[in-house]
Amino acid sequence: RSTSNDNIVWHTHQVDKAYRAKQKSQQPSVLWFTGLSGAGKSTVAGALEQRLAELGYHTYLLDGDNVRHGLCQDLGFSTEDRRENIRRIGEVAKLMADAGLIVLSAFISPHRHERQLVRDMLPSGEFLEVFVDTPLEECEKRDPKGLYKKARAGELKQFTGIDSEYEQPLNAEIHLAAGSHDVQQLVELCVDALRSRNIIE
Ligand code: PPS
Repeated sequence: RSTSNDNIVWHTHQVDKAYRAKQKSQQPSVLWFTGLSGAGKSTVAGALEQRLAELGYHTYLLDGDNVRHGLCQDLGFSTEDRRENIRRIGEVAKLMADAGLIVLSAFISPHRHERQLVRDMLPSGEFLEVFVDTPLEECEKRDPKGLYKKARAGELKQFTGIDSEYEQPLNAEIHLAAGSHDVQQLVELCVDALRSRNIIE
């Protein structure tokens, strides 16, 4: 997948990230939600986005299922494909942060290595890992799409948490005990964390 970049020169433009951030009165950043299928990533990220929008901030939510219908529709769930999925989303999130947005992304992103690659794409302090920590038993009990049932029956292979690994974050900036709090409580925890880091006022 690599190409030669020898003849391509980076172009710096006049309207830059700092200018756009000032215009929007917010610190561009990427809130990277990670967790098992059914953990509540999309739900919490969506509710947080709504709260931020109500407060007047400019956001964009990149969501696993939606991105896999377009940008990543050629990818499946092998280790290789998941890696490429996260790499592409990381690049898109970086562009959106460059546009001055607070980006929320909700992907299982099961491997520490790939999450670290995305972190390394961004300036220090602009990547916040949000661990949506819902125990596997709870995710399996919720099973909103019936996928755990299929995975247990052997009808769905390489399912995260069943026959494909999930590596928990070791030092997430925001750790949400999502099995034991309601969505609004989790949103407020995120808002507090964003304020304490001066991402929002
Ligand atoms: S990854 O691992 O980050 O590339 O996955 P992601 O892009 O977030 O896609 C996860 C959603 O795809 C559905 N799905 C699967 N998940 C895990 N493993 C397998 N094998 C699989 N097959 C389909 C599932 O609905 C995930 O959605 P969420 O919202 O996480 O439940």
